[in-house]
Amino acid sequence: MTKTTTTTAKIPARAVRFDEIGGPEVLKIEDVLLPAPAPTELLIRVQALGLNRAEALFRSGAYYYPAALPGSRLGYEAAGVVEAVGAEVTAFAPGDLVMTGPGIEMSAQGVYGDRVVLPESAVVARPATVDAITGAAAWLTYSTAYGALLETAGIRPGDHVVITGASSGVGTAALQVARRIGAIPIATTRTTAKRRQLLEAGAEHVLVEEESDPAKETLRITGGKGADILFDAIGGPDLPARAAGLKEGATIVLYGWLDPRPIALPMSWPQTIHTYNNVAFSARPAYRRRFDAFLHAGLRDGSLRPVIAEVFEGLDRIQDAHRLMETNTHTGKIVVRVAD
Ligand SMILES: NC(=O)c1ccc[n+]([C@@H]2O[C@H](COP(=O)([O-])OP(=O)(O)OC[C@H]3O[C@@H](n4cnc5c(N)ncnc54)[C@H](OP(=O)(O)O)[C@@H]3O)[C@@H](O)[C@H]2O)c1
Repeated sequence: MTKTTTTTAKIPARAVRFDEIGGPEVLKIEDVLLPAPAPTELLIRVQALGLNRAEALFRSGAYYYPAALPGSRLGYEAAGVVEAVGAEVTAFAPGDLVMTGPGIEMSAQGVYGDRVVLPESAVVARPATVDAITGAAAWLTYSTAYGALLETAGIRPGDHVVITGASSGVGTAALQVARRIGAIPIATTRTTAKRRQLLEAGAEHVLVEEESDPAKETLRITGGKGADILFDAIGGPDLPARAAGLKEGATIVLYGWLDPRPIALPMSWPQTIHTYNNVAFSARPAYRRRFDAFLHAGLRDGSLRPVIAEVFEGLDRIQDAHRLMETNTHTGKIVVRVAD
């Protein structure tokens, strides 16, 4: 493991790629030759991959930017070990434990594979106490929850925070981030199946949409006052109905569009709505510094501990991992172990 400078040797790797838009079955594992890292890039040996809904949307043509076909790569989040660094890389050295996530363009740089070359800016340090499975589930989920709740909504101790689609990777991270601040997380889910898991994941209250109206329940829980923050993954025309459980002047952070239908807002709207884009946030150095400190402190003291739904053994299980995501039966993060 040496510093890479001028070598032009290609590096053999296995990569998940797809040639057409479709379901999990379009994902293929191919032998590829990676270029040696450029001066500001790193070569990483991937140990584990964390799945995100974004990747299912990208693969099926429903993401906010399109896949470059044929031969598109896939994936934002991985944990691994640095194998080589370009001549201008200063923050990392071979042997360092790392996580990936910020600023990745999936078609060219997707991390689903056993080796990947990435710019230094897309890589973050992984503390020695954080194993690869945990590392593959930590960066994107907690950075989204942190950026939306702390940096955007200004969450404070004692705030009631409604977290919709709370069983998601980001949702379960948001439950823990709210708790770490001393806020009161209220989780929503569509069916009763995940109630126990959501309580175990840190929800103070679980509101099941098929049982009762979450907005009315939120008003009851807050003694009629209404919640302070809505952290919403869903959007769609039902957003005003979900917001009916908020206090006047509350903050809504809309970070996902799981319901792709247009949002219809009434003329008079008593809350502040922010949209949230983690790519834009993580491009800011000051944000990256604050979030790194928050994440590392939380991982160290155990208040941030990713909820892992299932670990699939081997890159060859990537289609199965995507199939599980399509069922929506998981709570937390789906991870694929690639190597030790
Ligand atoms: N803005 C950003 O920077 C950013 C960053 C990361 C993720 N995201 C977005 O965050 C969302 C969650 O991502 P993830 O990877 O954490 O998700 P995930 O782990 O796949 O989980 C999504 C969960 O949401 C619920 N759900 C799914 N479809 C729904 C629908 N149509 N209506 C209501 N609930 C639905 C389901 O839970 P129940 O069955 O329990 O209801 C499902 O388990 C995605 O939209 C993703 O694109 C945005």
